[in-house]
Amino acid sequence: MTPIHQVIKNKNTKINPIWIMRQAGRYLPEFREVRKLNPDFINLCLNEELSSEITLQPLKRFNLDAAIIFSDILMLPYGLNQKVKFEKGFGPKLGKVNIDEMSKKDEVDFVEKIYPIYKTIKKVSNNDIVKNKNTIGFVGAPWTLLVYMINQQSPKKNLKKSFFKDEFLINRILLILEKFLKIHIKNQIDNGANIIQIFDSWAGLLEEKDLPNYIYSPTLNLVNYVKSLNIPVICFPREIKNYKEYCEIVKPDAVSIDYNVDPKKILNYIKIPIQGGLDPKILLSDKETLRKEATKYLDVFKDHPYIFNLGHGVLPETSPDMVDYLVNTVKNY
Ligand code: CP3
Repeated sequence: MTPIHQVIKNKNTKINPIWIMRQAGRYLPEFREVRKLNPDFINLCLNEELSSEITLQPLKRFNLDAAIIFSDILMLPYGLNQKVKFEKGFGPKLGKVNIDEMSKKDEVDFVEKIYPIYKTIKKVSNNDIVKNKNTIGFVGAPWTLLVYMINQQSPKKNLKKSFFKDEFLINRILLILEKFLKIHIKNQIDNGANIIQIFDSWAGLLEEKDLPNYIYSPTLNLVNYVKSLNIPVICFPREIKNYKEYCEIVKPDAVSIDYNVDPKKILNYIKIPIQGGLDPKILLSDKETLRKEATKYLDVFKDHPYIFNLGHGVLPETSPDMVDYLVNTVKNY
């Protein structure tokens, strides 16, 4: 069994597997080189040769326990024919949702439009480099995808007042997302993904009173679906107001925490395996600080099933040397 599966399934506390959110990305010179020649991010995600190569880049450098597929959560709205593009220095820009057209989308069209993603997963999971390691597939949580689809770009600190005004539209989008997220998950698993992570990057935008409707209920539905396929599911409800209630209701196989969570406190009320936490900015400091801060998490979680990771994605300005140092620190703990 892979180290991450041992932690999640067997609740092994003796090992500390590690992977890093955004481990395939701009902090790696070899990624920037491929990126320079491929200015269209979506096309890059749909090129199975290049996206499998990019997925494996960090594993060639560092002793990581998993590959996470180089793709994006916004490939789902793209597959549903919403316009999606990525502008340098701005982030994602989406077109308006055409709900009538989207409602007519069928499974075959959707899968065909993003099929190279599944080919990438197959190539990665069959590569010798991932032997005894995991291939992580992922999706955006319904709430976070809804935010992008309606807001048409990354939200700032708060949602616009008008965000919830068309409740009928929101409910139709959520129904469509439920259907196609399941299709997307199933295809990733069928092609070799053996963990699914659900990214809810904008969970922190909601007041507690709105969590059941927009987060607990749709995410529980997806979590149960992944479990029914016998694949572990990790949830990352970034900055959610109530991690405890989230875990009790949604019951993922493991929960990934953001860097504002106090690891000692969370240990008192979360019983499931935990992942992540370290502030990515620590990787911009020095090795001494990095070792101290990483060790803090390892110490706190020494008797709890724990997968090392960051509290959000690795920053583009990070030195690969610091990532190497972090991985070795965790492995030699
Ligand atoms: O290495 C990995 O983690 C796998 C690949 C991955 C990407 N995006 C590649 C990517 C994963 C898992 C994601 C998830 C994703 N995408 C999330 C959830 C996680 C999070 O960060 O909160 C979100 C919210 C998105 C949407 C998205 N994609 C944004 C907001 C941006 C722009 C921000 C940025 O860093 O520029 C992207 C683009 C993106 N997705 C890049 C990468 C490597 C940068 C593209 C580039 O090279 O310019």
